[in-house]
Amino acid sequence: MARPKIALIGAGQIGGTLAHLAALKELGDVVLFDIAEGIPEGKALDIAESGPSEGFDASLKGTQSYEDIAGADVCIVTAGVPRKPGMSRDDLLGINLKVMKSVGEGIRDHAPDAFVICITNPLDAMVWALQQFSGLPANKVCGMAGVLDSARFRHFLAEEFNVSMKDVTAFVLGGHGDTMVPSVRYSTVAGIPLPDLVKMGWTTQERLDAIVQRTRDGGAEIVGLLKTGSAFYAPATSAIEMAEAYLKDQKRVLPCAAYCTGEIGVKDMYVGVPTVIGAGGIEKIVDIQLTEEEQTMFDNSVNAVKGLVEACKGIDASLA
Ligand code: APR
Repeated sequence: MARPKIALIGAGQIGGTLAHLAALKELGDVVLFDIAEGIPEGKALDIAESGPSEGFDASLKGTQSYEDIAGADVCIVTAGVPRKPGMSRDDLLGINLKVMKSVGEGIRDHAPDAFVICITNPLDAMVWALQQFSGLPANKVCGMAGVLDSARFRHFLAEEFNVSMKDVTAFVLGGHGDTMVPSVRYSTVAGIPLPDLVKMGWTTQERLDAIVQRTRDGGAEIVGLLKTGSAFYAPATSAIEMAEAYLKDQKRVLPCAAYCTGEIGVKDMYVGVPTVIGAGGIEKIVDIQLTEEEQTMFDNSVNAVKGLVEACKGIDASLA
């Protein structure tokens, strides 16, 4: 059987890391697409030349032509600009919306059967625009944010409790922005919810609140340190986890930006929710029950995303 084909639209920091991880994990053959001449070709060749030492079988190709993504099984989109210190993800809206239009049309024309994972920020609005521009079914177009935000939360919790991060599960819901909702009640250490761990004296409410806030600010913390761009190792790893769930029909339960049709009180828009990812793409949205307080925070986040979607409609009349 032929290897799956993975098209990476954008060959920058995240795109290059995605290509490396996809090859190392032998998820399939990789096409790196970018408008910048030489960058995708150079990265593809460099990674291919690591193959003999690493021992993976995968072909890598760099290109500026959408024809080369033809028949891709998975497309991961990072095309656009990342933020710099002092910028919010929302500041990228105008520039990246134009990029989503050309990328959406490229995918529509050359890889309409792909499972599409968008990473470009501001994530929830960009994945919505990408689905609109591409016209692909909504269950085949999703956004990577929840896996990353949850991984950051899990990392901080594992450090706090001095336990393996394998035993820490966590959920972050809502938009991928300042209003995201790290769900304390649904996050656990080996099944023990965080509020119980506070009662058990493993941590204090104040320390837990600080971890929640650090999770919300996780992207900005990295931007502040790097100064010239935003995070790329963990974002790429998170998207690869989603791509693998699709390609191997793993039915993973992963939070991601998915098109909601009434789940958790959200209608006809993309926002971060728990989903099941398998061969059918987003096979299910897990319609969890929130407390009144959680629902208020979640609704606040949903409203922030709605504002960005309205701003997109204001910029590009074809979206209205
Ligand atoms: N089509 C294809 N590629 C494009 C286009 C386009 N229209 N416009 C820009 N690009 C490419 C750039 O040439 C660059 O190589 O997208 C790449 C982006 O790479 P980086 O600048 O290194 O950004 P990266 O860190 O990979 O982040 C990409 O993901 O997390 C988000 O906020 C982040 O929106 C940003 C995106």
